[in-house]
Amino acid sequence: MDFNTNIFEQFDKKWALLTAGTEAAFNTMTISWGSLGTLWSKPIATVYVRTSRYTHEFMDRNDLFTISFFPEKYKQILGVLGSKSGRDMDKMKESGLTSVPTSGSISFEEAEVTIICKKLFTQRLEVRGIPDDIVKSLYEDDAPHDMYIGEVVEIIRK
Ligand SMILES: Cc1cc2nc3c(=O)[nH]c(=O)nc-3n(C[C@H](O)[C@H](O)[C@H](O)COP(=O)(O)O)c2cc1C
Repeated sequence: MDFNTNIFEQFDKKWALLTAGTEAAFNTMTISWGSLGTLWSKPIATVYVRTSRYTHEFMDRNDLFTISFFPEKYKQILGVLGSKSGRDMDKMKESGLTSVPTSGSISFEEAEVTIICKKLFTQRLEVRGIPDDIVKSLYEDDAPHDMYIGEVVEIIRK
């Protein structure tokens, strides 16, 4: 497994699609919060999903999830997939992206890098542990985030 990048820009500036489920039923949404690192001597990826997202249901129901990064030209599509819910639209049909069953989960033909993760640990980001200014701006009127830590089992690069 090999992935060299500026991690501080990779999520924050490029964005990604977080996808969970199988060909029979999956959902995907745009994320810009996440990290890559090491835990329990394993390579891991961490993502944060508000409990209100449709994708949250799929994250809870499935053992695997994928993080897909795309060439710049897909950014507008990522914008749409990050502002509309799979509850209200057929995300695959309207985005024009091509989903591909991959190693038990879902990736996309158009992605340049796909990180396949096996869920290791899930925990609510409890408001009592979050600085007040962040609670005020992000959690007073919105659902909490659950943190999902996944073991990176495969990285697919085009
Ligand atoms: C650039 C960008 C980054 C986002 N990052 C996150 C994130 O890290 N976590 C999260 O819960 N929602 C994030 N969102 C919001 C979800 O992508 C958005 O609510 C989406 O419509 C959820 O879709 P779903 O209901 O089909 O799961 C982001 C949206 C955008 C546009």
